[in-house]
Amino acid sequence: MEKFEILDLKEIKDSRGCLVALEELINIPFEIKRVYYIYNTNNASPRGFHAHKKLKQVLICLKGSVDVVMDNGKSRINFLLDTPNKGLAIYPGVWRELLNCSEDMVLMVLADRYYDENDYIRDYEEYQKFIQKEVLI
Ligand code: TYD
Repeated sequence: MEKFEILDLKEIKDSRGCLVALEELINIPFEIKRVYYIYNTNNASPRGFHAHKKLKQVLICLKGSVDVVMDNGKSRINFLLDTPNKGLAIYPGVWRELLNCSEDMVLMVLADRYYDENDYIRDYEEYQKFIQKEVLI
């Protein structure tokens, strides 16, 4: 499995609490064009189930927890996001599923492109074809 990276975000901690700073091209590996967040989720309604053709993203779970399943067409890996000082960078061509979102989860996502529905692959069979084409190039 490749095409993802775990980012250890430096936590600045003192008696008042913790602070994490995110800076493009410093601890975030791309220029940030878009930020969105997901909340008020429930365990029974998993999200994701798509891949992106070009988009790079960093997922940071600010509160609660979520299992992020990543699939490269050959193998699947599960990564538990449950702390705001870890980021999960997901690069293009990875099928992802967000499972077991806790009710209090707040998941922030940084992205290197504006929203574009044409960049999504939402069908797993289509995803497998896309991956095979990528390997041939
Ligand atoms: P989607 O990416 O499918 O969410 P998830 O993968 O978490 O299940 O997005 C849900 C809806 O929100 C879909 O109609 C597209 C819309 N959307 C935007 O309008 N802008 C955005 O930046 C994102 C990420 C989604």
